[in-house]
Amino acid sequence: MHNNVTEMFEQLWQQYLAVTPSAKKIHQLLSNGETIINDHIALRTFNLAKVNLDVLAAHFIELGYQEKGQYQFVSKKLNAKHFEHSDPSQPKVFISELKVEECSAELQSIVTELVAQIDAGVTTAKNFIYGGAPWSVTQAQYQVLLAESEYAAWTAAWGYRANHFTVLVNTLDGYDDLESVNTALKDASYALNTSGGEIKGSEAVLLKQSSTMADKAMVSFSDGDLEIPSCFYEFAQRYNMANGQQYTGFVAASADKIFESTNASK
Ligand code: NI
Repeated sequence: MHNNVTEMFEQLWQQYLAVTPSAKKIHQLLSNGETIINDHIALRTFNLAKVNLDVLAAHFIELGYQEKGQYQFVSKKLNAKHFEHSDPSQPKVFISELKVEECSAELQSIVTELVAQIDAGVTTAKNFIYGGAPWSVTQAQYQVLLAESEYAAWTAAWGYRANHFTVLVNTLDGYDDLESVNTALKDASYALNTSGGEIKGSEAVLLKQSSTMADKAMVSFSDGDLEIPSCFYEFAQRYNMANGQQYTGFVAASADKIFESTNASK
């Protein structure tokens, strides 16, 4: 089982690096030759039955993950859950889904058409969660989605993959805290997500997070190629709870701003 989990994350990591070249450089910058602990990854989807959060979660549950938390993002029309493995050294997994029925008729029609292109059996294949977009989408559809929901547009274009990996700052050699990591990133000219401030959260909520703005990469739409925001790298510093155990959850107010790391840079 452990081998399967490790192999799955290796597949997700390679897929992620292919469209997020800055992550590879930042990984080298922060590692100082030591291993970096990946705190969590995140995946995005639509809440239509064929591809919803539970369909993605099943891939992780099969490998020993359990649901540990639920989150709501009202203005972005998202639900999310996080999952943890019985082996706490494995990354946590954060999966969100767009509540399609709360969106415009136009968005609903596009997303329904995309999801209708998939055979249901495809979603249980081992490689589904690192298979990218399992549908054809046009640039015109992408732009319509983008005007209403950046999340919908990103998910339509990029499909199933890790939207981000996350460096656990606590175990980094040579960096005492998230502030010093952010300073190193800015000194190396990486753009950080400043929505809600460079650092989301606090010691009081037991979790501080920051992230880069997404790289840009080419997507082959069915009517031609277009360069759009791809994936980003996140940095998390976790604090201990009163019982001395490290907090393993997420903070909705912070995650709400982290989602904006795939917005187009101004
Ligand atoms: Ni995250």
